[in-house]
Amino acid sequence: MHNIRKITEDLFWLGANDRRLALFENVYPLPLGVSYNAYMLRDEKTVLLDTVDSAVSGQFFENLAAALQGRALDYLIVNHMEPDHCAEIARVLQIHPAAKIVCNAQTKRMIAQFFDLNLPDEQYVLVKEGDTLNTGRHILQFIMAPMVHWPEVMMTYDATDKTLFSADAFGTFGALNGNIFADEVDFARDYLDEARRYYTNIVGKYGPQVQAVLKKAAGLEIARICPLHGFIWRQNLGWFIEKYAKWAAYEAEEKGVLIVYGSIYGHTQNAAEILALKLAERGVKNIKMHDVSVTHASYIVADAFKFGTLVFAAATYNGGIFTPMDNLLRDLTAHNLQNRRMATLDNGTWAALAGKQMREEIAKWKNCTVIEPQISIKSALTDAQQSDLDALANAIVAQM
Ligand code: FEO
Repeated sequence: MHNIRKITEDLFWLGANDRRLALFENVYPLPLGVSYNAYMLRDEKTVLLDTVDSAVSGQFFENLAAALQGRALDYLIVNHMEPDHCAEIARVLQIHPAAKIVCNAQTKRMIAQFFDLNLPDEQYVLVKEGDTLNTGRHILQFIMAPMVHWPEVMMTYDATDKTLFSADAFGTFGALNGNIFADEVDFARDYLDEARRYYTNIVGKYGPQVQAVLKKAAGLEIARICPLHGFIWRQNLGWFIEKYAKWAAYEAEEKGVLIVYGSIYGHTQNAAEILALKLAERGVKNIKMHDVSVTHASYIVADAFKFGTLVFAAATYNGGIFTPMDNLLRDLTAHNLQNRRMATLDNGTWAALAGKQMREEIAKWKNCTVIEPQISIKSALTDAQQSDLDALANAIVAQM
């Protein structure tokens, strides 16, 4: 049975939820599941905007048939070719062989790479920046959004009803529980963390490209945003766009200290805990700690984008940085983290090398300053080093 939901008189959500998938992209945990959104515009022409992941294809095809009400599909707009959205293109075309694919030239090449379809050129309507497609009452305009999140990504803007189909942008992890609109839930309380984790991990590397698209979007009148994952936005758009602007600019959202430690037997953790207490004693209220061996890196990446001051504490291991911390720091390098103030604390029973190597990795990050003193402990913190931690806590507070 179909479970489509009306967005406007002639626009429908026909996506589906997956609450079984353990890891999105085989990397990111999904404690709340994920939705794959596809949309149907039922104009004089029928238009399907993207498909879904093959895991939810059964529901999707029931929804597609219901939304079409017996009509044939005229256009399939492909905004993004990652398989969580493009997986069902071939089957859509099997059912609707006369449907035209509306996409850009790079998408056309990717369709040929992913599917053995041998479609004739006439089956494609190739579009580029600013091109439009008239479907009857609606005029759809295409906005190229390269690297948000893949190079072929584009957005579709319905100039008639002011709807932006934003591809991965403005997406959120989490299945939709009947409420498909962000204004139907307490988004800031229940979903903002997952939106941030989605953005920072999936698109976070491409801040300049996201900023370029936000600039284009600023010139459009937007009544609603329909992303490929998570909630549809029809109220409070400015609030969410503002979050994106901050994330894309690598600006911290909150004054606060994130302390991440990698500790083998607890001595490094002990030093990190003492530093947290010293910060609290100096009036810092927004302190968050993660054990890098316990918390999945995607949550720490999201918090590193959220907090202005970061402390990394790690033991030495195999002559380098304790492996989970080593992986995390390289992950943050890959995600282009910038504009932060950072402190390091390291430990080593002999040849303590983690501190030097952590600082070498951090030095790759743009516009990041290291707060002194850098503290190195030998096996366990000594009484004498309490004053070093005091000095570090003072220096952290001074720069906040
Ligand atoms: Fe949800 Fe880049 O795909």
